Amino acid sequence: MQHFTLLQLGHPHLRLTAKTVEQVKSDATQQLIDDLLQYVEEVQGMGIAAPQVDISQRLFIMSSKPNNRYPYAPLMDPTAVINPQIIKASTTMVKDWEGCLSVPGFRALVPRHQTVMTRYTDRCGQQIDIEYSGFLARVFQHELDHLNGLIYLDRVENNRDIVTEQEWLKQIDD
Ligand code: NI
Repeated sequence: MQHFTLLQLGHPHLRLTAKTVEQVKSDATQQLIDDLLQYVEEVQGMGIAAPQVDISQRLFIMSSKPNNRYPYAPLMDPTAVINPQIIKASTTMVKDWEGCLSVPGFRALVPRHQTVMTRYTDRCGQQIDIEYSGFLARVFQHELDHLNGLIYLDRVENNRDIVTEQEWLKQIDD
């Protein structure tokens, strides 16, 4: 596995618009997907986008399984999402907690579309059309933002919705 450098908030490359993946089935892309799948597993993330490891391509991994911190997270096989788009989004917005590997130590309440109709290319080159709701819709929107140079804190409505991870853990333990 290649050695990834995880970029953190403030690094200018997190603010770039990532480039379309042209060669989905190339060895380089397939290797990158394998490496990101392994990486997200190691760091127990719900997702990771290529720009977070300084690879400016429109590709992310979505991964979800319940744990202490997100007991309501659905179980899904970690999935590579390439050149994603949101085709349609519900007008209903829902606020819930998010964190990000690139912003260690913080959590914030972020408004997201409750439901999104998405289109992307899978690692075999197939077009996938799938609707996500709730937690998975949130992960998809969070990761897609990384491809457009956005960080979840950009979407927070009020600075008072930002807390440290330490305080957040106290709240969810109550
Ligand atoms: Ni993130």
